[in-house]
Amino acid sequence: MKTINIKDLEPGMFVVGVIKQAGHVRVKNQGWVRDQKGIKNLIQSGVLEVEIDPDKTLNQTEEEHNVSEECLEPPQIDPWHKSVPVEAELGQAVKMYEQAKQLQEKAFTDIRDGRKIDVTEFKETASGFIDSVFRNQDALACIARIRDKDGYLLEHSLNVSILMSIFAKHLGFDRALIEELATGALLHDIGKIKIPDEILQKPEKLSENEFAIMREHAKYSHDIVKEAGLGTIASEIAGFHHERLNGTGYPFAKQGDELSQFVRMISIVDVYDALTAERVYKVGMTPIQAFKKLKAGCPNEFDEELLNQFIHCIGMYPVGTLVKLKSHRVGIVAASNPDSPLQPVVKVFYNAKNMFHVEVRDIDLSDKRIDDELEAAVKPEEFGLDLIKFFRHSMLP
Ligand SMILES: [Fe+2]
Repeated sequence: MKTINIKDLEPGMFVVGVIKQAGHVRVKNQGWVRDQKGIKNLIQSGVLEVEIDPDKTLNQTEEEHNVSEECLEPPQIDPWHKSVPVEAELGQAVKMYEQAKQLQEKAFTDIRDGRKIDVTEFKETASGFIDSVFRNQDALACIARIRDKDGYLLEHSLNVSILMSIFAKHLGFDRALIEELATGALLHDIGKIKIPDEILQKPEKLSENEFAIMREHAKYSHDIVKEAGLGTIASEIAGFHHERLNGTGYPFAKQGDELSQFVRMISIVDVYDALTAERVYKVGMTPIQAFKKLKAGCPNEFDEELLNQFIHCIGMYPVGTLVKLKSHRVGIVAASNPDSPLQPVVKVFYNAKNMFHVEVRDIDLSDKRIDDELEAAVKPEEFGLDLIKFFRHSMLP
């Protein structure tokens, strides 16, 4: 028997069992790997290492004859399943998001005053997010996209936690693992509490010295999460979220295999959310612009395979994105359409040609009777639109 990395697995090899995996997927049958698709399925399910029986490896001709039902197939879970419509989930999701923000604030005060953070509350928050994501991920995804310029410090961690949950669910991870990832993500920037305000809030570029102080926040996060007793995975994603595959990250300059799949995931999600965020001093990028920027960092800084998975699960036009249609109508993507990602449901409320607000209407671009199509993601500033106001008035039940 021989243990190999999933990347070295080839069609025709006989797999005896799964040795190491991120997703706790149960692979019932031993068997031959039929094709690349089978391998891809295993990778997507979080399998990292397998044990093979080299004596049973088939050569090409044998493989064609012998490999049939005995193949390894991880259980098929539909990552896009929605058990409730987005409208039914939004109200609850907003409430949860607001409570989570208050909890973040409380944790900041607790640590500032030398108290330990209450882990149970963070676990409950993460668990609530995950429940919501499993009911309909569009609701929290939408809230995470519609940003408050002043709320970055608090909202960023919530958004990273929500995006991590959606990403982990997409990869087929099991519930306990998603909870640890989501809780760690909620606290990944908690170490910023130890950074002086004048550095933390400085809108201008930081000096070399200030940046050196700022870089320490990840180390503090690591220690706070570890001390709180939240498991190794949670503390590593909190501590290593700024590390990069080629060792150019901080504060530990870890590289390559030292960065687990989970750390690679949060480094992508963290940068994605930071790039798309509206800040007082900077306009956020559209998701496509952010994906391009992340792509440019592959494979040196980010894991390309995971980035592709992330783009696939978030989509070019994620729910909550402001888009312009060919008809000049402008609206918010209200529901994704996994079968046809470029044809989501758009809640239109503005006409860009005559610059008027129009009656709010849902347009399902995948509906054959609709003679309209998506043109581009746009920024609210281009049209002087206030998305938060629109969201509160028109999207909440
Ligand atoms: Fe950070």
